[in-house]
Amino acid sequence: MRVRFLDAGGRPAGEREAAPGARLLDVAQADGQPLEGTCEGQMACSTCHVLVAPEDFAKLPPASEAEEDLLDLAAHVGRTSRLACQIWLDPSWESLTVRLPGAAHDMTGR
Ligand code: FES
Repeated sequence: MRVRFLDAGGRPAGEREAAPGARLLDVAQADGQPLEGTCEGQMACSTCHVLVAPEDFAKLPPASEAEEDLLDLAAHVGRTSRLACQIWLDPSWESLTVRLPGAAHDMTGR
């Protein structure tokens, strides 16, 4: 399935074919997206925060309470914010588009 990345301004920033069952954070990092994922999925950092495209958001299983709590602390959150370390690609999705939330954790200057 196709995973598309948009930069903070909504411009295309990358696209990658990914296997169902892959974790979104791993796919993003393999594509060179500036998602730190400092805690490697332990739900302790929120540096893996992404904004899911509105048309894709409903496909995702709801966030756990712990994920919601952490998102409350993240910068640039929106209504479709999720933690990329908590999203596993489902075979029923044809594609998934996510936007990077901004430069808060981006040290690359992009
Ligand atoms: S990698 Fe730290 S919360 Fe997702």
